[in-house]
Amino acid sequence: MLDLRDRFVVPPSPAAELRAFTHGLMPQTVPDLMAGFCEDWAERGVDAWNRVPDRWELGRETGWWALPEDLADAYVAPMLGAPAGTCVLQPNVHATVQMLLSCDAPFEGRTEVVMTEGEFPSVRHSVQRWAGLRELRPIDVPARPDGSVDLGAVADAITDRTAWVIVSHVGFSTGEVIPDDDLRRLAEAAHARGALFAVDGYHATASLVQDVEAIGADVYFGGLLKEACGSSGNAYLYVRPGLDLRPRLAGWFADADPFGFAPAPADHPDVRRRFLGGTTAVASMYHAVEGLRVLLDVGIAAVRADSLAKGARGIERADALGLPLRSPREDARRGAMVVLEVDDADRMVRWLKTRDVYVDARRGRLLRFSPFVWNPLADVDRLFDAVEEALATGAHRALAAADAGGPVT
Ligand SMILES: Cc1ncc(COP(=O)(O)O)c(C=O)c1O
Repeated sequence: MLDLRDRFVVPPSPAAELRAFTHGLMPQTVPDLMAGFCEDWAERGVDAWNRVPDRWELGRETGWWALPEDLADAYVAPMLGAPAGTCVLQPNVHATVQMLLSCDAPFEGRTEVVMTEGEFPSVRHSVQRWAGLRELRPIDVPARPDGSVDLGAVADAITDRTAWVIVSHVGFSTGEVIPDDDLRRLAEAAHARGALFAVDGYHATASLVQDVEAIGADVYFGGLLKEACGSSGNAYLYVRPGLDLRPRLAGWFADADPFGFAPAPADHPDVRRRFLGGTTAVASMYHAVEGLRVLLDVGIAAVRADSLAKGARGIERADALGLPLRSPREDARRGAMVVLEVDDADRMVRWLKTRDVYVDARRGRLLRFSPFVWNPLADVDRLFDAVEEALATGAHRALAAADAGGPVT
């Protein structure tokens, strides 16, 4: 099993931070990099847009202007099994989805966007809102009764009217992985009808081996906030080579001649650059790939094996306590996050905090955790020892229902 505690800023022992699925820990290198940002800004000013020192082991010069492509080529593309020139950093998935839905071509003669009921709001709500902006009909495919994705129903929903098919690689509320072979079959079903296939890979990012070419994705997007430990302001987009997407929501950074200030816009010849919008937020890019660099160094396959093994220990302990598992049990279908049904889950989470064990709750009855590369197996045992104690004594029920400390648990 992996122990990468020395590569991240971990809370002081004995704290057990088990929430990588929601926000990863800070890599040790980040404070120096952020000091580097201040240095580059102070010393170079506007010239930093053209040239800054190579702080990311790119092996070549870069500048703030080129960072979204250079960092993506060096670290995001290898993570996705994608060729250089296909990936670009994005501020968040919401912005990416807006830009994708603003592309006319997939909608020529087509109106429908097929997605699953389990898509994250950045996708699902965006598609619904776009239904008022262009001739677009969201086709929502319901989950199976156990909450899993009904792949057959998704395939059946694809018709000659479909412009996009959008699915999550790993369900954000279920932790369910759609294996590459199944994604590939959906891609083929979409392509057979002339539709484009998009995958939201947020919960797969840096915790699952991602292979956009094996999947056959036309676009693949996700964020670096969670297991990739890149914090906020850092997401990414892959666009299949040769796919000529032209977002209408394109800012001047995406223009073919940004400093020509021509009266009319022109699409940048490099498709991925068309997704840059306006002036990029540079500071967040300084820390975007620091976690990824650590994880790519050990290999995402090793990260995945480690997370499966530690998660399995959690499942074993949950079984022993009779807590129903709400995420898949089978390795091939289980992401990094383990979801359990626990009565009074919000209070349980708050009580666990008093024991220095950090997990989260959803809808008052689901408890979620994901042991990651900085967690020794003992952290999983500490979690379940504490849960066992709470269930036996009812100590957590004595806590007030409100005051969870903020909207994010
Ligand atoms: C599947 C999925 N997509 C997207 C997001 C986040 O989207 P955004 O970058 O718009 O905040 C999340 C966040 O948890 C997610 O789980």
